[in-house]
Amino acid sequence: MGSACKYIEFDVFSKESAMKGKEYMELRKINTQDAFAQWEYTTTLPSDENGLTNPNHGVSYDEYLENVLPTLISYEHPVNMPEWFVPETYYYLWDEGHLVGEFRIRHYLTEALRTGAGHIGYSILKGFRGKGYGTEGLRLTVQIAKSIIPEDEIYLRVNKDNIASQKVMIKNGARLAGEDNQHMFMRIPK
Ligand SMILES: CC(C)(COP(=O)(O)OP(=O)(O)OC[C@H]1O[C@@H](n2cnc3c(N)ncnc32)[C@H](O)[C@@H]1OP(=O)(O)O)[C@@H](O)C(=O)NCCC(=O)NCCS
Repeated sequence: MGSACKYIEFDVFSKESAMKGKEYMELRKINTQDAFAQWEYTTTLPSDENGLTNPNHGVSYDEYLENVLPTLISYEHPVNMPEWFVPETYYYLWDEGHLVGEFRIRHYLTEALRTGAGHIGYSILKGFRGKGYGTEGLRLTVQIAKSIIPEDEIYLRVNKDNIASQKVMIKNGARLAGEDNQHMFMRIPK
């Protein structure tokens, strides 16, 4: 006999919002209950925007349910992945029933990540940009990352021409730690 009481766990980390006019915002870990909204986000997100890559652009809902979603969920505890693969957890930013952004946390640095993409990658849905979601979403993500990563600082990389993302980082306490021709390397202390 199964239990009469079903409990759905969403891994909600915060219902607080620092944004004016936003009464209810949360970061939810990727899950099967939110499959449709997560698919809509994933299939719409460009394949490469400012260095944030998405191999699942244009994926069908069936393919997402069958392969993509289980794969993305498995990244938190990878099995049969190459040695270089670092555990990565996907979170989605929700505001009053709307999925508005995606935030990915890589759990520790390898040499490639240290000199490359760092710990966190993020994006906000096109129609919702410029409203403070990126800043608030990174704030919530940094709170979680601080409890996951072993390093003393959170490493981030941003293209030199991506002013919006630079502002998002700086408003979350990031400092410039280095640069190359195309990128700025930013760090947020833990
Ligand atoms: C970068 C990104 C996440 C920013 O999200 P967002 O929700 O628009 O960010 P916010 O609304 O919190 O804006 C942060 C700041 O950037 C500014 N900004 C937003 N869009 C901008 C633009 N196109 N050009 C210049 N500044 C911009 C905002 O005005 C704000 O600055 P302010 O506080 O001084 O007014 C979003 O543009 C995005 O998803 N871009 C594509 C993917 C990407 O670049 N990811 C980051 C890779 S490092």
